[in-house]
Amino acid sequence: MGQVEWAYGLAKDLLETTLPRRWAHTQGVADQAETLAPILGADTDTLIAACLLHDIGYAPDLIDTGMHQLDGARYLRDIAQADERLCRLVAYHSCADNEARQRDLFDVLAKEFDQERPDLARALTYCDMTTSPDGRHLDVRDRLAEIHSRYGPEHVVSRSIIDATPCIVSSVRAVEAALANETRTGQNPGTVDRLT
Ligand SMILES: [Fe+2]
Repeated sequence: MGQVEWAYGLAKDLLETTLPRRWAHTQGVADQAETLAPILGADTDTLIAACLLHDIGYAPDLIDTGMHQLDGARYLRDIAQADERLCRLVAYHSCADNEARQRDLFDVLAKEFDQERPDLARALTYCDMTTSPDGRHLDVRDRLAEIHSRYGPEHVVSRSIIDATPCIVSSVRAVEAALANETRTGQNPGTVDRLT
């Protein structure tokens, strides 16, 4: 079984019934990853798998610290024995180090997981932060506004997103620029790295 197929089955099992809207979002995020094939080349499948798994930490059975990035990554490492790159991508997805600081979990996160290659981390952030809760494509600014309105101003997620906004927006814009450049010039995979 390929990595994408494996990740799809695992995420579906954990999310489809208990969190159907989160599962719809997850599939939309994975669809975004497929559009990055021109700039990611051989890494595209790793990104698609990471997109499928990025929010499994919201599954009721997986909640431990309450930080879904960390809870999901721990499950992948300890129970699912996933590839290290997937664990790292999930652990830090969408600039999660900011939420870790807000929750006083940054030292725990940094001790348990290394960061993955920056261009892949930015690509995952792009896919997540340009996909609505029900799986539709939208601009990053609309996505950030949606998160604020869903959680409200006092929630730790909203506070974390304020801190993470420069990282999130710059990641999304870098990927958009790489895609535009690829369309214009037909440059080979690796463009995300060279442009940022
Ligand atoms: Fe997400």
